[in-house]
Amino acid sequence: MFPDDKSNDPMTTLTPVASVMKLAPYVQGKSSIAGVRKPIKLSSNESSYGPSPRALKAYQEYSAHLNRYPDGSQQELREAIAGVHGLNVDQIICGNGSDELILLSVRAYLRSGDEALLSENGFIMSNIHCIAQDAEVVIAPEKSYRVDVDAMLERVSAKTRFCNIANPNNPTGTYISDSEVRRLHAGLPANCLLLIDNAYAEYVDQQDFASSETLVDEFDNVVTTRTFSKIHGLAGLRIGWAYCPPEFISVVQRIRTPFNTNGPAMSAAAAAVQDTEFTRGVKQQNASSLLRIETALTRIGIEVIPSATNFYLLRFDPESGKSGSEAADFLQSRGIIPRPAGGSDVFLRITVGFDQENDAVIEALTDYMAD
Ligand SMILES: Cc1ncc(COP(=O)(O)O)c(C=O)c1O
Repeated sequence: MFPDDKSNDPMTTLTPVASVMKLAPYVQGKSSIAGVRKPIKLSSNESSYGPSPRALKAYQEYSAHLNRYPDGSQQELREAIAGVHGLNVDQIICGNGSDELILLSVRAYLRSGDEALLSENGFIMSNIHCIAQDAEVVIAPEKSYRVDVDAMLERVSAKTRFCNIANPNNPTGTYISDSEVRRLHAGLPANCLLLIDNAYAEYVDQQDFASSETLVDEFDNVVTTRTFSKIHGLAGLRIGWAYCPPEFISVVQRIRTPFNTNGPAMSAAAAAVQDTEFTRGVKQQNASSLLRIETALTRIGIEVIPSATNFYLLRFDPESGKSGSEAADFLQSRGIIPRPAGGSDVFLRITVGFDQENDAVIEALTDYMAD
């Protein structure tokens, strides 16, 4: 080293934030298989049905305005969402995917050294944002692949400032009832933000489930997020929304970049949310496909975790000589891309697709189990 070499001096070299370096780069679900021209991609819980024709039309029509910045106030989309869901338009904020809204919430309310309370199989991006913010992530174990409210409440401390559950959850596909969500909220301190991620809420039919907008109206420390990436089939446009207490909106508006949501995405999303007939059709089709898949796979000896979403989690028993990773390889040899989950050989997550895509999965897994 030369005497004036300053390469290790943090004052003169680029030094990343230490909490960011605790993270490994995010690995996306696979989207291709070598040698397969058109694989069946069932790895990211997208909608095979695509968006409503009305959303596509709005998207195309927007092309006449591409020289202009989009409406930074997100007025048209917020009004469309408020109208369809019966919400206060001033309490809606849109993001570059709901993921951005989780990030903004964490940035606005979580300090270095605060505790963020998450559930064992919670949506991974929340964990990533909390670690990057230099918070202490506290993970509560789950019971039967469900958020365990008792386990979460046992881990609340004076330092808990953020709590996040996805309801229904990814990758498990399970949900907890409205009364359980309320019990969780009731056990949290008033200075803890409860973010309820309702990305898959539109798929749920169970009577004891409720998306959490009512809770937002009742309390000033609850926020709920939704996405256009799932039932609305607009994952490629990156657009989501949150319903929030007025004070939260005023805080987060200070760090939201003025044009975080792009014009074509907002136009398409406004049309998509208003096409309630299309959404209902996708929901019904998904429910009947899911039932058919669950029945067929259970029959061939695979455990299917009961799902309330557009994907299902399979559990393989390593004792039986069958594994999630082997099943994934087998599916890929048939041109199907699933998503290994949980970092072990036990689980495999697969998105509900078109009938013929689901048939291909059932046929391949039947052959794998018989192998
Ligand atoms: C539970 C959950 N929340 C949020 C997201 C992110 O959605 P978006 O595409 O709106 O960022 C996903 C995406 O898979 C998800 O599964």
